[in-house]
Amino acid sequence: MLLRALSRLWTEHRLPASPGLRWAAAGLRLLSSGAKGLCEQTLVAVKPDGVQRRLVGEIIQRFERRGFQLVGLKLVQAPQDILSAHYHDLAEKPFYPALIEYMSSGPIVAMVWEGHDVVKVSRTMVGATSPGEALPGTIRGDLCVHISRNAVHASDSVEVAKKEIGLWFRHSELVQWECCAAGSTYNI
Ligand code: TYD
Repeated sequence: MLLRALSRLWTEHRLPASPGLRWAAAGLRLLSSGAKGLCEQTLVAVKPDGVQRRLVGEIIQRFERRGFQLVGLKLVQAPQDILSAHYHDLAEKPFYPALIEYMSSGPIVAMVWEGHDVVKVSRTMVGATSPGEALPGTIRGDLCVHISRNAVHASDSVEVAKKEIGLWFRHSELVQWECCAAGSTYNI
C-alpha cells in the first residue's frame, strides 16, 4: 500500500529523472504491483559469427517478440581483459585459445534483456551449446551448425548474469524504461 502510494507520488509529480531515481522508481512500481521477478536481467551477446552473418536483427527480434525488454545494447570489439574474465572458467579447456581468438575476430553485439525468468528462458531460446544437439526452434538449432561458431551467448544463471552484466556494461549504460506493453505481457 505504502509502496504503491510512493510509486504513484513519484509518477504523478514527475520527480527528477536521474538514472538512479529512475531505477528506484521502477523498483517501487514493480514492488507495489506485486510482480516479483520481472526485473531479472541477463546478458545476451551476438558473437562475431552472428554479426558477420547479419543475424543481429533476427536474434534481437526473437527476444523482443518473446516479450522481454531491452535495457542495454552496444556493438563492441571485445577487449582481451573482458574476454578472459568472461571465459575464466574455461581457461584450461583445449578450445580456449581458439575461442578467445574467435571472440576477438570482429565486433560483438552485447545486450541486457530483462523480464520474468529471463535467464532460464533465454538459455532455452538459445539452445544447446553444440548446434547439432540444439533443438529446431532454438537460435542455435535454427541458425548454426558448429559448436565453435554458435552465434550467441546467454548467461547460464542469475548469479552469473549479474557478474557478466557488470563485466560488459557500466551501470550508466543500462536504461530503465517503462514498456507500455507490460500490462499485456504480465498480470500487473
Ligand atoms: P560453454 O560456456 O560451455 O557453453 P555455452 O555458450 O552454451 O554457455 O562454452 C562457451 C563457448 O565455448 C561455447 O558457446 C562455444 C565454445 N566451445 C567450443 O568452441 N568448443 C567446445 O567443445 C565447447 C564445450 C565450447
